[in-house]
Amino acid sequence: MKEKISKKAEEIKSFLTEFRRDLHQYPELSFEEVRTSEKIAQALRDMGLEVQTGVGKTGVVALLKGNSEDKVIGLRGDMDALPVEERNQTSYASKHKGVMHACGHDGHSTIILGAARVLHSLRDEIPGNVKFIFQPAEEAGGKGAAGMIQDGVLTNPKVSAILGVHMWPAPIRLGQIGLNYGPSMAASDSFSLKIIGKGGHAALPHMTIDPIVIASQIINMIQLIASRMIDPLDPVVISIDLVHGGTRHNIIANEVELRGTVRTLLPETRTYVRERIEKIIKGVTEALGATYELTYLLGVAPTLNEPALTQLVEEASREILGDDQVLRLPHPHMTGEDFGAFCQTIPGTFIKIGVHSPEKGHIHPLHSPYFDFDEEALVTGVKTVAYAAVKYLSQDRF
Ligand code: NI
Repeated sequence: MKEKISKKAEEIKSFLTEFRRDLHQYPELSFEEVRTSEKIAQALRDMGLEVQTGVGKTGVVALLKGNSEDKVIGLRGDMDALPVEERNQTSYASKHKGVMHACGHDGHSTIILGAARVLHSLRDEIPGNVKFIFQPAEEAGGKGAAGMIQDGVLTNPKVSAILGVHMWPAPIRLGQIGLNYGPSMAASDSFSLKIIGKGGHAALPHMTIDPIVIASQIINMIQLIASRMIDPLDPVVISIDLVHGGTRHNIIANEVELRGTVRTLLPETRTYVRERIEKIIKGVTEALGATYELTYLLGVAPTLNEPALTQLVEEASREILGDDQVLRLPHPHMTGEDFGAFCQTIPGTFIKIGVHSPEKGHIHPLHSPYFDFDEEALVTGVKTVAYAAVKYLSQDRF
């Protein structure tokens, strides 16, 4: 099976390249993936697969029925692009002004489509079912995955495990893949805070409650959460991204507005940080005579790779790619990814597909206007997910 998948993945390299370059030229923003989802749905129908469209608005789902009804594994790729103006001069550079596949989602959907093609050609030998999930709006703060889950993508038939892919720059080289055990991507939350003091004359501070001084205390004290209250080996990022208050000198403002970003890896830390932020705000404003209004928005959940499933993907990828092509990543990433929503519901693993290649000039980070990758990475991705899916379906331990 390993040899067959490997051979077929190599054989479709030009199909993968063409398909990805087409998506790359016509990128579409979150929930606007109309052309993209039509292209994908058509390609799946051409293979002879059962296709569902409009799942979670612009999502596409296809089901491959193997030779047993037993288990269903899901393979997920996202489809949306970013509001970035592409700076690359390639023949397949974006034709949509101000929109670009700067996060590699053109690659993710092509990998899942390629896996569909490879597995469909071997369907009589596959001991279970595979659901191919093309998700819209990954860049929409969790709405893409949530919409598909709400529309029942993980049921009927019930999906028992899910694999997701992401193109990954340094340190993962072209041809390699990287895996994290446990946390892989961070939870991404944010908050808006208004501190309400009492404005007045800047030369008569005792007649006022100065929200700017109070805001500065809060900004500093919030930094103590990461540095003094959390295990240094459990990463937490808290950034204040906006401070707005005051009109001109000689006037003490009446109120100050702050906004912040919070990234955590563990669910318990996520809850703890949220509680501490509010405690600090409450304590400082109370002590200094101000009041506050706080809105705390929970964004995407952390992506937590289920260890047994990750182990299976590691074994499968070592077999099909070779030992030196598989990295156990020492650290998770503090960027967010709404694949976390799937992992909260069923066991999941997020596979980072290496694209770093200084030889080919592919050295730019995700979301850069220069981000690009060599399509050999798509072949690597197809081999990995297709073989891991078959291995999952063949084993009794799941
Ligand atoms: Ni992405």
